[in-house]
Amino acid sequence: MGWQIAIDGPASAGKSTIANALSKHFNFIHLDTGAMYRAITLKALNLKINLTNENEYNFLETTDITFKKEKIFLDGVDVSDKIRSIQVTENVSLVSTFKTVRAKLVKLQREYAANDNIVMDGRDIGTVVLPKANLKIFLDATVEERANRRRLERLEKNSLDISIEDTIKEITERDYKDSNRIISPLKQADDAIRIDTTNLGINQVLHKVIQLAIERGFKMENEKDLLEKKETKQEGEDSKSLSEENTTVSEKNSNSSKLKNLQQVEGVVKEVTKAKQVNDKIIDEKVVFTFENGQEGILSHNDTTVKDSESLFDFFEIGEKYTVVVKKTLPNNKVLVSTRLVEKRKELSKYEEIIQKHETIFAKVIKEIPEGLLLKHDDFSCLLPSSQIDLKSEEFKKIIGEDLEVAPIRLDFTRIRLIVSHNVAKSIKYKANKEVFLNNIKIGDVLDGTVKTIKEYGAFIELEQGIEGLLHISEVAHSHIDINDCLKVGENIKVQVIKIDNNQIGLSRKAILPDMWKEFSETNKVGDIVNVIVSEINKSGVVVKINEEISGFIPKSEFSWERDTYLTDLVKKGDTLDVKIIEIDPLKRRIILSRKKCQDNPWECLNLKQNDSVKGIVTVILKDGIKVNVQGILGYASKRSLGNVSLSNYKVGNEIELIVRVFDKNEMKLILASQMQSDSFTSTSKSTDKEISKVLKEQKKVLNTFGDLADLDKWQK
Ligand code: DC
Repeated sequence: MGWQIAIDGPASAGKSTIANALSKHFNFIHLDTGAMYRAITLKALNLKINLTNENEYNFLETTDITFKKEKIFLDGVDVSDKIRSIQVTENVSLVSTFKTVRAKLVKLQREYAANDNIVMDGRDIGTVVLPKANLKIFLDATVEERANRRRLERLEKNSLDISIEDTIKEITERDYKDSNRIISPLKQADDAIRIDTTNLGINQVLHKVIQLAIERGFKMENEKDLLEKKETKQEGEDSKSLSEENTTVSEKNSNSSKLKNLQQVEGVVKEVTKAKQVNDKIIDEKVVFTFENGQEGILSHNDTTVKDSESLFDFFEIGEKYTVVVKKTLPNNKVLVSTRLVEKRKELSKYEEIIQKHETIFAKVIKEIPEGLLLKHDDFSCLLPSSQIDLKSEEFKKIIGEDLEVAPIRLDFTRIRLIVSHNVAKSIKYKANKEVFLNNIKIGDVLDGTVKTIKEYGAFIELEQGIEGLLHISEVAHSHIDINDCLKVGENIKVQVIKIDNNQIGLSRKAILPDMWKEFSETNKVGDIVNVIVSEINKSGVVVKINEEISGFIPKSEFSWERDTYLTDLVKKGDTLDVKIIEIDPLKRRIILSRKKCQDNPWECLNLKQNDSVKGIVTVILKDGIKVNVQGILGYASKRSLGNVSLSNYKVGNEIELIVRVFDKNEMKLILASQMQSDSFTSTSKSTDKEISKVLKEQKKVLNTFGDLADLDKWQK
């Protein structure tokens, strides 16, 4: 077994990025287990199986998943892009709940880890797949931050623009499903180290994990050197994320390379040329610089911050070093330079703090440009790329001239401009609003909300513009309900805050609804009779509604004193019935009812003996015999027991006289025969009679159905 690093965490916490970078750093294998679940989902979608039916996943046995050069192959085909589709993303949480799917993939994942050093990322790596991993990391970030990352990634990868609110919803939903599934839910392993990546750059997280791996004893040749190298490189890169092109600023002018446009460089003043004074303006005054590489630079008055009325002689001394920016390269090996740009660059750094503090600014929209929109803030140009605004390009014109709230996301020191994002500003505002909102609510508060979306597992309730809480299906009502019967999108409802966790709000509707079960069980007891409405008839009995919230069940055996009848012959949906409560358990939400106990037991009133002659009314003519109503109870006479008389001679409603063959109150059995047959029956032998009752006693199942009675006939033959 090699060295194992397990990285778990919710969607878009940065797991794959970090795992990938780590694998490169340490030269480990990287296994993106999420991609494997996605690949299975893709195959299930392609096969058009019923995704909710685990039995239809038998294709797993013949499914092959492999990784080659950071690509994932499903049955030999590269599906690296296809597994990122919206359809796969929407269904992968469902597919990954199935035991068969997980068993297949966990086995495969462990096989990968058997011999090599590995970094594996997913949801259950530290808890299930690699419980003995040398290092376990749980990466997390606020849902807003993760949604923002997911959104930008999509925009970049496939220009798919899904609003930040919808992305937050999508991530919340996935978090919920991944953390609440029964098998291997997303959970931080007890021995995992949690890193909140909300305000960290990739390199900062990577650095932390590398250090942790080393602390845990991972040794690699020259690892220390590598780490040091990384650290230096990282410092550069961390600042790069803020001022990517700042590297040109510190670029040293080497002897060999020619100066480039916008390069910042140090030059020595060679001379300051004579000037003319026209009115109170000094014109044609220039400073000539020489640079280390031998090139010359010319700085004109206009390109400095020196006032028009003042002379450059007073600001530049021959032989002294000054920092300038190359404005233009000229064909004669000379360059035009500017010190004004150096100042502007310094001024631009004031936005660094704004970026770090995640603040926003209002900038005026000036015009549309090919990359997006050009804005102005305090004399600085701001580029708002099309991907960073929640508007279609046709609509850009509408906001020209307006002040738009944007968040600076990067500083372009070369061109001295800010790169801003309208989307990030929205998410910052959303986060701030949510923070204020969360600070103002507490568990137990009852709030007004609007049903925004309904899912199979619950509903999202908007509590304030853009701020939603989750009303889980188990919190909608006191009893089991169909969520679509209870809630409608757009409906205003009252909800109680029952959970505030990691900026997520859990709500309950039932907590503020009267508990009808409690009320019912306080006012009703076993033996009471209630009036109910039939809502469903199934094989085992009848489901009835006692009131809007409470349903009860009448088992088939409790429906009627008559045996062997079809429930559907006796009752239909919507019928009202009087029924007796025979069991009540408000905690289990269970009420068992009896209809037959509301009626007298006709068997109790009847006293018959074998060979009694009885009169009865033919009620049903069956294939193998007839049913006869004898003083309110149904008896059965088989075709054979009726002798040679054809069944067609019997008519429903006719009165006939028969002989009792079997009468058993406890078993509720009345078996009849015609006079003639009964004679032969009694005369055949006493032992036959005995044998019938023996079988009745010994085999409880005997004579339970009319089919059994037919068997009795056979047995007698
Ligand atoms: O990391 P990702 O978004 O690509 O993962 C896709 C889904 O796969 C995720 O919603 C849950 C599931 N998954 C899992 O159940 N167990 C893992 N080890 C990895 C992913």
